[in-house]
Amino acid sequence: MNLPRKIIIGNWKLNDTVAEGTVLLHKIHQELKGFSTATIIVCPPATHLYPLHRELTSLKSEPKIELGAQNISDFESGAHTGEVSAIMVRDLAKYSIIGHSERRTHYGETDDQITRKVAIALEHGLQPILCVGENLQQRHDGKAHQVVLDQLNTDLADVTAAELKKVIIAYEPIWAIGTGTFAKPAEIEDMLRLIRNALVQSFGQLASTESRIVYGGSVDAENAKTILNLQGCDGVLVGGASLKPKEFATIVRATDK
Ligand code: PGA
Repeated sequence: MNLPRKIIIGNWKLNDTVAEGTVLLHKIHQELKGFSTATIIVCPPATHLYPLHRELTSLKSEPKIELGAQNISDFESGAHTGEVSAIMVRDLAKYSIIGHSERRTHYGETDDQITRKVAIALEHGLQPILCVGENLQQRHDGKAHQVVLDQLNTDLADVTAAELKKVIIAYEPIWAIGTGTFAKPAEIEDMLRLIRNALVQSFGQLASTESRIVYGGSVDAENAKTILNLQGCDGVLVGGASLKPKEFATIVRATDK
């Protein structure tokens, strides 16, 4: 049986001008010359999607790098100043991060909005990278499982079993994001198992096998191999380290057995 390819997602967040992002993209491509055995996705700021999409169409050699947005609107069009819709993004990117904890925490994004974003993304052919995860207090209070299950239940409420295979779930414990402290291997495996079981329960065994579950939170060149080899781990979502081409390339290469 062919094992599915591991997925490495770089989340550039609010960093780099278009010129800097273009250089970064080329450096990543250069560092990974010829590498073809992982799915590599970079999620730059929205302003970079068009120019980077053009750059990527001119890069013919491996690795193939795909683009994702960092967010989309929960509306398709209309009077929503400052928003970018799935319809605008879909010609430029294949994926969109949805429900990142920074959006939930800093911008008050609710699970109801995230439910709509996931549905709109799927409707317009964008694959959602849905982020879920508990904060430190919730973990200390023994509520981590419940928080993640509640997020999944709401955020995937409008997804059909047939659509589930398009959804990538990113388990990102908030206390591990940008802190340099990644979750312990046993904690990660435990959550990946919980999420997988929840998908099986809601969507059935067959539909759930095809959806991918990744981990995010202080992934770096040193811990990538350990995390990627964990039971049930289909890939990683990388923030800070995705801005450093050599380190990001090392993380991608860590998918090699
Ligand atoms: P980090 O960010 O790798 O810098 O912890 C991960 C994320 O926010 O997706």
